[in-house]
Amino acid sequence: MIDETSGRTTRDGIRIYQDGDYAGMHKAGAVAAQILDEVTEHVFVGQTTGAIDDFIRKRVEELGTTSATIGYKGYQHASCISVNHVVCHGIPSDKKLKDGDILNIDVTVILDGWFGDTSRMYVAGKLSRKTERLMQVTHDALMKGIEAVKPGNTFGDIGHAIQSYVESHRMSVVRDFCGHGLGRVFHAPPNVLHYGRAGSGPVLEEGMFFTIEPMVNLGRPETKVLADEWTAVTRDKSLSAQFEHSVGVTADGVDIFTLSPAGKFHPTYG
Ligand code: MF3
Ligand code: CO
Ligand code: CO
Repeated sequence: MIDETSGRTTRDGIRIYQDGDYAGMHKAGAVAAQILDEVTEHVFVGQTTGAIDDFIRKRVEELGTTSATIGYKGYQHASCISVNHVVCHGIPSDKKLKDGDILNIDVTVILDGWFGDTSRMYVAGKLSRKTERLMQVTHDALMKGIEAVKPGNTFGDIGHAIQSYVESHRMSVVRDFCGHGLGRVFHAPPNVLHYGRAGSGPVLEEGMFFTIEPMVNLGRPETKVLADEWTAVTRDKSLSAQFEHSVGVTADGVDIFTLSPAGKFHPTYG
């Protein structure tokens, strides 16, 4: 029997998980990451994002997991696929990828009640220097955030590490969407901001599980949500990129649950 009541919650409402819980998160995270590894060969010019989602839906099932997004607040797909100036929550469709399109693919699976949530960037066809740089800075910003994860640091330290890195490259961090606690639920406290002041926010403790998923724009940070009530785009139509890992705080640092089994987190091309 799994004891649903084991562990405690901080005064900020953040659940503290137990030693045995990391293994469940690793299993779920590895499946989500494996699916993103497999997706690479399905991304090409002329391919539709709907066909990529069909493949993801099939693999989620074949690997013995459940999609966390199908049925979530009415969402009907196994992934979010966000192309070019789409910031996040792009809905898979019959629209074909064009040469030079960049896209984020975000998959969340549930395995034995544990959630694994991860996303990466892909490219269809030829990559321009500008988009390559956007994706590299976004990836490296996520890793700077992850490097700030250890007991005694704060969530503000994570946000500050990401924001200062991104802005030093004259790009902008999206404020309208954030990372989130996860574990036995999809979205839990805290909101993991990708900007902020060093030393602000709740203190990190061993046993906290959450995502870090910075969205970075080449232009301004403002976004708007389209009439479909999901698709978030940059207001200035500038290109946007995102990478996401699910992580846990350990006694002396961080455990990344969604590492790529094939070592393909970034870059996924070339
Ligand atoms: N996986 C997304 C996240 O990183 C959430 C997608 S919710 C959906 O939190 F309904 F849009 F799929
Ligand atoms: Co997430
Ligand atoms: Co996600």
